[in-house]
Amino acid sequence: MRFETIAARGGRDVPSASRPLTAPLYQTNVFVFDSMEQVEAVWEGEEPGFVYGRYGTPNHAMLEAMVAELEGGEAAVACASGMGATTALILGLLQRGDHLVAARDLYGSTTALFTDEVPRLGIEVTFVDAGEPDRVVEALTPKTRAVFVEALSNPLLRLVDVEALAARLAGRGVELIVDSTFASPAVLRPLALGASIALHSATKFISGHGDVTAGVVVGRRAVVERVRAATIRVGTNLSPFDCWLAARGLRTLHIRLERQCANAFALARFLEGRPEVQRVYYPGLPSHPQRSLAARLFQNGAGAMLSFDLRGGAAAVEGVMKRLRLIEFAPSLGDVATTWTYPARTSHRGISDAAKAEIGIGPGLVRLSVGIEAVEDLIDDLTGAIEN
Ligand SMILES: Cc1ncc(COP(=O)(O)O)c(C=O)c1O
Repeated sequence: MRFETIAARGGRDVPSASRPLTAPLYQTNVFVFDSMEQVEAVWEGEEPGFVYGRYGTPNHAMLEAMVAELEGGEAAVACASGMGATTALILGLLQRGDHLVAARDLYGSTTALFTDEVPRLGIEVTFVDAGEPDRVVEALTPKTRAVFVEALSNPLLRLVDVEALAARLAGRGVELIVDSTFASPAVLRPLALGASIALHSATKFISGHGDVTAGVVVGRRAVVERVRAATIRVGTNLSPFDCWLAARGLRTLHIRLERQCANAFALARFLEGRPEVQRVYYPGLPSHPQRSLAARLFQNGAGAMLSFDLRGGAAAVEGVMKRLRLIEFAPSLGDVATTWTYPARTSHRGISDAAKAEIGIGPGLVRLSVGIEAVEDLIDDLTGAIEN
């Protein structure tokens, strides 16, 4: 081979009798075939294999198999973001003329998708208080194909009784979709509680290290394959490297969440004892109104998310922002580092003050995503920041 050909083609196949311990990264956007029979067999799914980046790579298959198994689902599909997963799910599951019932307090972009985009496809959406299974059932029509809820609401950590809701929807031909991002499969397993589809922004706890934007849908194989087809058509596919990073993050999910839940519980108890704090929202606290529901639905702790109301309102929050040394303001969650946000200026900034007050989001509300640090350091940082 000549210089140019070596440069273009050389060094690709390295022989090895041994296997890598860590899954390799398949940073390729296409796969090569050796015969027309192979093309036919792989394309038709008769032989395992991969075709083209947007259709998936071994890194997609690894991440999807891990999430499916951890959630107890038949199959999963990885997408470019949590919103990409929700979009592909809606396109794969619903058609013009169908009806969707959605929880009223969803993540803001999900609400915007269901308010502004989904109705343009001829799909009607009704928003209800999903904390009350009766309200969901009352909203069903003969055209309802799915109910979409979040397991834990943002930012007030209200739980949906997934088990009771699944029981009420059983036999009606309605899919119960649970966005379980705030919990992660280490804390809640919606499919084991009767939901038919679990969805995650894998940007958060699943990847866990603040370096990936990704989403995943888990459920029955037939449904997942429809969502995969939609992902391939609209191009909401994830990159191999992001799959690899998310799969690597997932390997420590249970250990991260064990520590994060323990830290969150300790911080919730600390904050509850502080005179500057009016109220703490954490489903693991005995004072949480849904404590017994949390104990029934959750495993291994009550999650890593907590919110609290500072008595001094917005001015007190400004003071906290100036005085925090360790815990940084970052409008995301699920990282190994503890971060905080201010829902009034982030997730709920588009809502009027009156509407915010109605759903319980006051000017002093702070949301914490608790990480794996030494809890004493977190308590020291918070003590210094809330004292005024
Ligand atoms: C509960 C929930 N669902 C979905 C999403 C969307 O995920 P992504 O940002 O990965 O698109 C988020 C993002 O914060 C979220 O908090």
